[in-house]
Amino acid sequence: MMEKSRHTRQLAVSLLFGLWFPCCLSQTTAPSRASVAPTPSAAPQQLKVRLAGYPRKHNEGRIELFYKGEWGTICDDDFSIANANVLCRQLGFVSATGWTHSAKYGNGQGKIWLDNVLCNGGEKSIDLCKSRGWGNSDCTHDEDAGVVCKDERIPGFVDSNIIDAQVDEKKVEEVRLRPVVGTARRKLPITEGVVEVKHKDGWAQICDVGWTVKNTRVVCGMLGFPHERKVNKNFYKLYLERQKNLYLLRSVACLGSEVHLAACPLEFSRPNATATCAGGMPVVVSCMPGPLFMQNSSLKKKVKVSSNVRLKGGARLGEGRVEVLKDNEWGTVCDDRWSLLSASVVCRELGFGSAKEALTGARMGQGMGPIYMNEVKCVGNEKSIWNCPFKNITAEDCQHMEDAAVRCNIPYMGLENSIRITGGRSRFEGRVEVLSSDTNGTESWGLICGETWTTREAMVACRQLGLGYANQGLQETWYWDSSNVTEMVMSGVKCTGSEMALSQCQHHKTVNCQKAAAKFSAGVICSETASDLVLNASLVEQTVYIEDRPLHMLYCAAEEDCLSKSAAKANWPYGHRRLLRFSSQIHNVGRADFKPKAGRHSWVWHACHGHYHSMDVFTHYDLLNANGSKVAEGHKASFCLEDTECQEGVSKRYECANFGDQGITVGCWDLYRHDIDCQWLDITDVKPGNYIMQVVINPNYEVAESDFTNNGMKCNCKYDGHRIWLHNCHIGDAFSEEAEKRFEKYPGQINNRISQL
Ligand SMILES: *[C@@H]1O[C@H](CO)[C@@H](O)[C@H](O)[C@H]1NC(C)=O
Ligand SMILES: *[C@@H]1O[C@H](CO)[C@@H](O)[C@H](O)[C@H]1NC(C)=O
Ligand SMILES: *[C@@H]1O[C@H](CO)[C@@H](O)[C@H](O)[C@H]1NC(C)=O
Ligand SMILES: *[C@@H]1O[C@H](CO)[C@@H](O)[C@H](O)[C@H]1NC(C)=O
Ligand SMILES: *[C@@H]1O[C@H](CO)[C@@H](O)[C@H](O)[C@H]1NC(C)=O
Ligand SMILES: *[C@@H]1O[C@H](CO)[C@@H](O)[C@H](O)[C@H]1NC(C)=O
Ligand SMILES: *[C@@H]1O[C@H](CO)[C@@H](O)[C@H](O)[C@H]1NC(C)=O
Repeated sequence: MMEKSRHTRQLAVSLLFGLWFPCCLSQTTAPSRASVAPTPSAAPQQLKVRLAGYPRKHNEGRIELFYKGEWGTICDDDFSIANANVLCRQLGFVSATGWTHSAKYGNGQGKIWLDNVLCNGGEKSIDLCKSRGWGNSDCTHDEDAGVVCKDERIPGFVDSNIIDAQVDEKKVEEVRLRPVVGTARRKLPITEGVVEVKHKDGWAQICDVGWTVKNTRVVCGMLGFPHERKVNKNFYKLYLERQKNLYLLRSVACLGSEVHLAACPLEFSRPNATATCAGGMPVVVSCMPGPLFMQNSSLKKKVKVSSNVRLKGGARLGEGRVEVLKDNEWGTVCDDRWSLLSASVVCRELGFGSAKEALTGARMGQGMGPIYMNEVKCVGNEKSIWNCPFKNITAEDCQHMEDAAVRCNIPYMGLENSIRITGGRSRFEGRVEVLSSDTNGTESWGLICGETWTTREAMVACRQLGLGYANQGLQETWYWDSSNVTEMVMSGVKCTGSEMALSQCQHHKTVNCQKAAAKFSAGVICSETASDLVLNASLVEQTVYIEDRPLHMLYCAAEEDCLSKSAAKANWPYGHRRLLRFSSQIHNVGRADFKPKAGRHSWVWHACHGHYHSMDVFTHYDLLNANGSKVAEGHKASFCLEDTECQEGVSKRYECANFGDQGITVGCWDLYRHDIDCQWLDITDVKPGNYIMQVVINPNYEVAESDFTNNGMKCNCKYDGHRIWLHNCHIGDAFSEEAEKRFEKYPGQINNRISQL
């Protein structure tokens, strides 16, 4: 099978400097607010609905209903857009844009719960529509129906199959803190002030008689803060007594675990009455921000966030797939019974507020490692998800397609107010402009020099804009509308990729740009979804071996630069090269297909192997010594990308043969077998010893991914001059920091997992 190969180019090492210069967040004076509108009061036993199958997105897929303890599908007979509208709204989207028949997203399993469904379109739930009745169907799963929903959430929608709180959305929509006037220079986030609640006619206060610290906890959580702190009421009393207050609420009785004030038992003052608050005053609260949002840096150091829980793959701050650390290895949480209460525990322990959404079905991409927990059932006041009741996972319980995720409430920082994009064709693309102030404090918008601009910087810009992931970072933007361009005000931008705002990235003190014209200014194309490639580490470990390959079989490989430099001096065709061979299986576990950036017109034909390469550098293969320096020459591999195989229910879409479309579909993987030409490291010149083998996918961030921290794979490698062993093969972010340090110290004995040596 000579389907695939790669070619190498001269070794180039790009060192990435992770400098971090926090500086001058632009601040506005908008009050801090949370707008988690609750769901319409859920019927006591709400029907669960989910999207399943492939290739689906978060807003489209096969419809599955949970009834009588079992997930099942809907048959497409008589299906209509009206049915789809009902289902999309149940899933939290504003409406449907289409529906699909004949199992477009693959065949479901188990029951076909509904058939001949006839909705009018206005029903609150699919089970209120006409049908043949539960479980009564003459269809097969080849007729499973699907929906495509408009990618716009019902404002503040909380997964309806999860929220269990009875809430009254008509009365309390939003909550904000109003700081008292006259206090010193206002900084964001606003952590303390008079609590105001929004009702249909405006904002009003709450009477503080009977107010508890549990109520404060709920308010702080909504506003993005994990904890509450004591407030000096006397300070506010004088001021507030002089104000005319409108009390909308009294007798608030939260348990403290609610994610919204509206979920707490409340007593409303009579409508429009300027009710009084006998013996009390408006509620004032003070919240403790998480370390990320703290102004006081000495305090920041003291407050630690959880080190055995993390969020991965989210587009925005405070969202992502939930991962937990056990025995020094990260794993995921299965979504069975995943709830807002459990999600809130995770959010708070990470320094955010309560949870806005508890997401199921790998909506933030799939993990690769172990799945540790199932049926997590937090009460809401636990310090960590590890303190909540949960079930250990068994083999059949769960797959990564069910990975749980969260969206947390985060404090309002106003970061999106100091950045904008202009000139693009849609609201997701354009030239990046930042707000800066001159010495007199006059603010103005200006462009960014494109010279140092890469995907990494674009990632920060898209995040700051609230537009998701960076699909591309552009160094030239001449093809966009340039009628109103501004001056260049920033250059030399270098981000690590994890900053909250461009102002936190390293950049020149004064503008220094070779090409200062607007057409060479930085641009972005942002995207709500992205791919995520991960290498199967255990397969590398299991398939490794050494081959002494005769030179006469290596002409093609030499032509594609797959051998180290010394091969040029060999006595061709006599002799051999020593090759470290292994298989790589590269999975796309993200939420968009992985596609080469270059269009087909620029793909390169490789005559020797008989196919096109669509990416110049797709992976790096290296062997490092204890110093981290390369002993086997870095091998930059280019691939022909295709779906070799897919998860159940996913169909292949990309293939290399016949100038086919190249890429990797979500839920599929591309396999490079150990016996394919160039799938190796040339170790002819390597001395026996202990090394680290490293593979990095998409090393230049050429194609957008939701997570780049999992693109590297490392193994300990022992070579005795005849045979080779790999162990502890793992994805770059799979181990705890501590375990990673021990790993790097190799050749010392590391993990209990290497026992055979
Ligand atoms: C509300 O206020 C308006 C105007 O002040 C008044 O006409 C109306 O009677 C009030 N309604 C109630 C229920 O108090
Ligand atoms: C920061 O926090 C420390 C410790 O609580 C406190 O002593 C100090 O006054 C605070 N600094 C500012 C500027 O608020
Ligand atoms: C899960 O299994 C581990 C051992 O593998 C055990 O220590 C732990 O108590 C179990 N937890 C639960 C909730 O069953
Ligand atoms: C700042 O203000 C002074 C006095 O108003 C003015 O002369 C100067 O030009 C201003 N500088 C800038 C950069 O606008
Ligand atoms: C350019 O600016 C002018 C004046 O501010 C505005 O009227 C016009 O719509 C802008 N053009 C574009 C393409 O944004
Ligand atoms: C990774 O490879 C191992 C070994 O061949 C295999 O058992 C496992 O299923 C693979 N993992 C995935 C996610 O495909
Ligand atoms: C580390 O690097 C230094 C300088 O390049 C070299 O002298 C030393 O031998 C290296 N150590 C190992 C263990 O390779």
